[in-house]
Amino acid sequence: MSKTALRTGEASVTGANPLLAGMRTARTPVPCALVIFGASGDLTMRKLVPGLYALASEGSLPAGFTVVGAGRTAMTDDEFRASMRKAVKGYGRVPLRDDIWEGFAAGLGYVTYDLERSDGLAALKDALDTGDRTRGTSGNRVYYYSVPPSAVVPLSERLRSEGMCVEPPGSFVRVIVEKPFGRNLETARELSRRLHEAFREEQIYRIDHYLGKETVQNILVLRFANGIFEPLWNRQYIDHVQMTVAETLGVEGRGAYYEESGALRDIVQNHMMQLAAIIGMEAPSNFQAETVRDEKVKLLRAVRPIHPDDALALTVRGQFAGGWVDGEPVPGYREEKDVDRESLRETFVAMKLDIDNWRWAGTPFYLRTGKRLPKRATEIVIQFRRVPHSPFGGNVATPSGVLPTDSIDPNLLVLRIQPDEGITLRVSAKVPGQMMRIRGVNMDFSYGSAFLKESPEAYERLLLDCMLGDPTLFAREDEVEEAWRVCTAILDGWRAHPPDRANCPNYEAGTWGPEESHAFMARDGRAWHRP
Ligand code: BG6
Repeated sequence: MSKTALRTGEASVTGANPLLAGMRTARTPVPCALVIFGASGDLTMRKLVPGLYALASEGSLPAGFTVVGAGRTAMTDDEFRASMRKAVKGYGRVPLRDDIWEGFAAGLGYVTYDLERSDGLAALKDALDTGDRTRGTSGNRVYYYSVPPSAVVPLSERLRSEGMCVEPPGSFVRVIVEKPFGRNLETARELSRRLHEAFREEQIYRIDHYLGKETVQNILVLRFANGIFEPLWNRQYIDHVQMTVAETLGVEGRGAYYEESGALRDIVQNHMMQLAAIIGMEAPSNFQAETVRDEKVKLLRAVRPIHPDDALALTVRGQFAGGWVDGEPVPGYREEKDVDRESLRETFVAMKLDIDNWRWAGTPFYLRTGKRLPKRATEIVIQFRRVPHSPFGGNVATPSGVLPTDSIDPNLLVLRIQPDEGITLRVSAKVPGQMMRIRGVNMDFSYGSAFLKESPEAYERLLLDCMLGDPTLFAREDEVEEAWRVCTAILDGWRAHPPDRANCPNYEAGTWGPEESHAFMARDGRAWHRP
């Protein structure tokens, strides 16, 4: 990047409305340089730069904010800007406006780097120094590692040896690290140890984009800003909790990654364990990062250890065969690019977690996730206990007729994380007419119609939080390790008992996973809810 490439930051993208400006002050970080390592990759185009642009257009970025893309692909600043403009147009949440783009693009630059070479970071250092002088970034840095897992440690080592991890007095240096945070408990610990050679824990922001979703944050609001749910939020009133992360997508060209990962590492260890922690945690006494994360980790620590020998009884694995999704034929997992034709890798997992504490003892959490299911839906269902006694005799109406009293459906609280974001409370109601007939009805809250306002994307929230130095919505080292503790035992158990080749793949694309997943719930006298 040329020394003059980053123009000075007078072209502030902050608007003039004093009321908004006042509100923004609290959420506007000081100028900093965000270095995206691996900037020529997909994430930068699809999420990071469009997310930053959205922040710019709502006035959340300070004048002087700078992005330096760093990648091995050679590119000029102008080429980088042109491709980012296209990315914002193609993937952005907010429409591209020329005046805002001008201000934003003034802070965009690109450098090539090559860790193999001893002077590989020279151009980057130069660009950052220039930005400090001309745009007032004052040594403030956020490094975003959008690089393959194998590059995380070497890159950190190099940054350390160049003195680029130390925070100059009054300035900050932070690093955002993407999953996978290791492959199991041992490698996760090793990764943290190596990262800590370069950065203090407080400088490390482990990103889990689920935590940036508005609807996930709303679980905290639902639980702790309403008086009515918390008294019921325990083993006494809740029969069980079930969480579903269902995707219609396959592995989308990421076959090589998925062969290494599988559904447990890809979704459960991070996104779903985080959801479980938020659903199950105790009320934090305030919303400070460490207070919230302390409560989350306490919940994760309470998850009953799974002995590898019990892993088969407490989980179900699945892999999809070809089938139909959204009216289109789709190939099986083994037919996907870069996937072994005899792969036994799981694309579906269902599991049961027991939580050994006073709030949840005896109230299990069931988790399931899968690729190529019939519907994209992430939701959490809190199923309450049935009424202890019904005075209504045998007058319960169901679509199929009249059933005995104990079939009055239990109340459900359904938290729809995506799509169709909202909350449904299912209650029993009287069917109009002379008879006392009872049927379940829904009380619905929908984000779309309640707020008439689009939610920011997860990455917008998380990038801004990192710049502001707020790690509340990032996973702390101990949370990651606790989640691995549970998942590693399952992986160990699975390794000792590989799936039966004759029964793999075991579900057709476009179905709700293997039959075993339904049998698994039925064994406990329960059933999965259809999102
Ligand atoms: C990612 C996984 O973390 O989450 C992907 O690696 C998955 O495999 C994605 O598709 C799902 O995210 P979302 O936000 O679409 O639910």
